[in-house]
Amino acid sequence: MCGIIGYIGHRRALPLLLNGLKRLEYRGYDSAGIAVPHGHGLYIAKRAGTVAQLAAMVDSLDLPATMGIGHTRWATHGEPSDRNAHPHTDASRRIAIVHNGIIENYATLKAKLQQDGYTFHSDTDTEVLAVFIGALYEQYGDLELAVRAALSEVRGTFGLVVLSADHPDILIAARRGSPIVIGIGDGEYIVASDATAIVEYTRSVFYLTDDEMALLTRSGCQTKTIDDIPTSAQLLELEFDLERIEKGGFPHFMLKEIHEQPQTFWDACRGRLLALEGNIKLGGLRSVEDTLRRARRLILTGCGTSWHAALVGEYWIEELARIPVEVEYASEFRYRNPVLSSDDIVIAISQSGETADTLAAVREAKLRGATVLGIVNVVGSSIARETHAGVYIHAGPEIGVASTKAFTSQLVVLMLLALYLGRMRHLSATQAREIAEEMLRLPDKMRSILERSQSIHSIACQYAHAQHFLYLGRGVNFPIALEGALKMKEISYIHAEGYPAAEMKHGPIALIDENMPVVIIAPRDELYEKVLSNMEEIRARRGQIIAIANDNDPDIARHATHVIPIPETLPLLTPFLTVLPLQLLAYYAAVERGCNVDMPRHLAKSVTVE
Ligand code: AGP
Repeated sequence: MCGIIGYIGHRRALPLLLNGLKRLEYRGYDSAGIAVPHGHGLYIAKRAGTVAQLAAMVDSLDLPATMGIGHTRWATHGEPSDRNAHPHTDASRRIAIVHNGIIENYATLKAKLQQDGYTFHSDTDTEVLAVFIGALYEQYGDLELAVRAALSEVRGTFGLVVLSADHPDILIAARRGSPIVIGIGDGEYIVASDATAIVEYTRSVFYLTDDEMALLTRSGCQTKTIDDIPTSAQLLELEFDLERIEKGGFPHFMLKEIHEQPQTFWDACRGRLLALEGNIKLGGLRSVEDTLRRARRLILTGCGTSWHAALVGEYWIEELARIPVEVEYASEFRYRNPVLSSDDIVIAISQSGETADTLAAVREAKLRGATVLGIVNVVGSSIARETHAGVYIHAGPEIGVASTKAFTSQLVVLMLLALYLGRMRHLSATQAREIAEEMLRLPDKMRSILERSQSIHSIACQYAHAQHFLYLGRGVNFPIALEGALKMKEISYIHAEGYPAAEMKHGPIALIDENMPVVIIAPRDELYEKVLSNMEEIRARRGQIIAIANDNDPDIARHATHVIPIPETLPLLTPFLTVLPLQLLAYYAAVERGCNVDMPRHLAKSVTVE
């Protein structure tokens, strides 16, 4: 979603703010801006477009300020334009704010302020908040009080930073529902919506919790609730370094992250997969071990790619642990009046740990007495903090908007969970060992697919100008078909649909002709013969088949137009291998079409609004 950066300290603020905005670009944005104290007032520069365009506007200026705020915006209220870009100011133009989230009662507040004679220059809810803070500041003459009073009256979500020309020695940050992380340096603080903007300056950070604010000066920091009750910040060390948020020689973050998967697969297993014993150790679940032993039903929830991971998890957990699993979109779960009891376990899956719908589902499930667990990547994120227990996937920062390595790491944790639950029940150590030992071989098998990506590149170029793609898979590879289709549409803007292969004849077959590329996932498993029949049905209608099949399959080439070979593995583990060619196919098609792979249009990395 939008990106926030704020700084107070001893360095020149402008270069640091622009650098921070560049680091946040991956979150998706359409405009950018900065504000710093200057002379007796504020200097503000903002515009629709890229951070580079903003930098070109301000680079040559000699602005000595050692504090300031910056923002990259992803439009919610009002089109992307110069006047809607942040920072927004109050009526006096002496208070500026940057804001992520949505002020739901902005229309009521705006009407009230208009009655009092205030005018507005943008279409945004953020400007309403800025003017409201300014009006309260006029009334109380106290900035902190004005911010607290305004935030107590707004409904909705915010992560924000306030800067005032009257107080060039303090930054005020606050959050409700939209992340704010504060980096602690030597006599300096860096505020951001995401730790990637902080890590090159300091690793020591703390996250604000909901309805908490921080008053940051060069000599110290005070945290309190919006109701003025002092709080104490929990310090964390960031675990990743600068290298992990840079491209490392790859043309795009997405390609780099695709290639990191043999390593991130291993990082998610490390210390957890006790292959020799046929056991699994998940330290983050120790506190809920008894509840898991008694579990009668699991509900897995998430959005987008994380929801696809949940669908794979459903197959695995039911197969290995024999516990009934339901999978539900978090956005549906939260509004569905779900039947839940204290015997239920809800597992929220999220790369960012900040997705608004998934977070709301977590809260709803907790309210109804369920035990709620998280499978999350971002350490210290809202979902990680609000769940009763959980397992981090340790994939490191994922910058490409299209999720790749986080998906395979989510799958690793779900497989570990299935084995862990299975071992608590009937799964023998021998059965678990067979799977665990094969998992240890997977990174090399993943690497061998990535090494052969040239052939996927040429297939992608051949079909990059298709209008539609169909993806088919069965069993545990049906969710992989959905994931392949999602990757294709989100970065290449080609319409793509995923289906269980057997469903094809119930409708989608009508779409097939010589212009329809059909990607079929066809590893040699118990459904292989049936998938071959589907391929014949497609061939009979002159569809173009791209088959993902085992490299030792002698027959497949007779049924497909193209074959992308993958090494053999246990049928249950095939998703770890079948998804890689689909990620690469989407990537190369998008590059061929000239799309902005890392920042696809209209998308944001983390969807923190409904
Ligand atoms: C994946 O490629 C998407 N960009 C998107 O579907 C994403 O998976 C979804 O928004 C959920 O995000 P989360 O995992 O951070 O909760």
